[in-house]
Amino acid sequence: MRVLVTGGAGFIGSHVAERLAEEGHEVVVYDNFSTGSMENIRHLLSMSNVKVVKGDVLDLDALMRAVDGCDAISHHAAQLEIGSAIRDPAADARVNIEGTINVLEAAVRRGVGKVVYASSAGVYGEALRLPQDEEHPKRPSWPYGVSKYAGELYCLQYSQFYGVKTCALRYGIVYGEREWFGRVLTMFIKRAVLENKPPVIFGDGRQTRDFIYVKDAVELHNLLLEGDHDGFEAYNAGSGVATTIRDLADLVIELSGNDLEPVYEDPPEGGCSLITGRWRIPKELRNLQLDITKAVKKTGWKPETSLREGVRREIEWIRNNRERWNVRERV
Ligand SMILES: NC(=O)c1ccc[n+]([C@@H]2O[C@H](COP(=O)([O-])OP(=O)(O)OC[C@H]3O[C@@H](n4cnc5c(N)ncnc54)[C@H](O)[C@@H]3O)[C@@H](O)[C@H]2O)c1
Repeated sequence: MRVLVTGGAGFIGSHVAERLAEEGHEVVVYDNFSTGSMENIRHLLSMSNVKVVKGDVLDLDALMRAVDGCDAISHHAAQLEIGSAIRDPAADARVNIEGTINVLEAAVRRGVGKVVYASSAGVYGEALRLPQDEEHPKRPSWPYGVSKYAGELYCLQYSQFYGVKTCALRYGIVYGEREWFGRVLTMFIKRAVLENKPPVIFGDGRQTRDFIYVKDAVELHNLLLEGDHDGFEAYNAGSGVATTIRDLADLVIELSGNDLEPVYEDPPEGGCSLITGRWRIPKELRNLQLDITKAVKKTGWKPETSLREGVRREIEWIRNNRERWNVRERV
């Protein structure tokens, strides 16, 4: 296949591009490099089946040129900063909704039969039941979840009207090599591993998250991209395991080899930590645990990497790539 990967210079997109290229597919990385970086894909540049195009998903003409001759699109380009989305929902909507419409439009106009869309567990909002299956009500807590869900609905529209096969992957908390700074795990790693300082937990630490190692998520992504289905389908892409933030902090401390105890802070939602200067996201979710039965039944996939092993690999990567780890906080 020839696959256009939008956001292919980003964290998840670069792993998607890498894996597809290793499998022998032709890959066109399409990215405006706003948060992604050439460093994420430098190791792919010598491969004859990888091409990089600098372009914006808001530029339909450029997108259509780049997608010419492709069989599928993996759409990972997005605005992910929850704080930015709250401050400027229209800008968030432009990239995440209009950008997704452009991707679908380019697919229709250039005869691309399949689009895999990187959605988010953020479409569900606060869990009304656990684990959350794909039928869980969609009541996003932030404009980011609204725009990601709108992208899904456009995927549905384009499959109904134009017959493009579309599929949404609702990622949980994806982590691993090349993860960007400003998220709970990367904050913990920076403090405990690089600075020998205790991780700072917001609240009581009993809130839960569903962490999925990036290569496991990409494995599911590729099975869905390469497999067949009709119309539009949405799949949860998580581990199915709920991990408390306290347990995550303890794991990072243990793997750091440093003698530390986490500290607790309780800034109001939207308030700032006195210790790290980190902003607390308003309407922080209490629980996130995805039911992954649908993806497992459809593809035979299951996540292979334990949280311990995945975090160990991420720490090793950060230790070896300290200079190029982008430590600009994104919230
Ligand atoms: N990381 C996660 O845990 C997570 C969870 C849920 C959903 N997602 C989704 O997965 C996708 C990838 O996320 P990520 O963590 O790799 O983020 P990332 O910021 O590393 O990657 C996004 C990429 O898109 C590019 N981009 C942004 N705006 C663009 C535009 N207008 N035109 C072209 N390129 C543009 C960026 O330069 C970057 O390379 C996103 O769609 C995101 O919503 C990620």
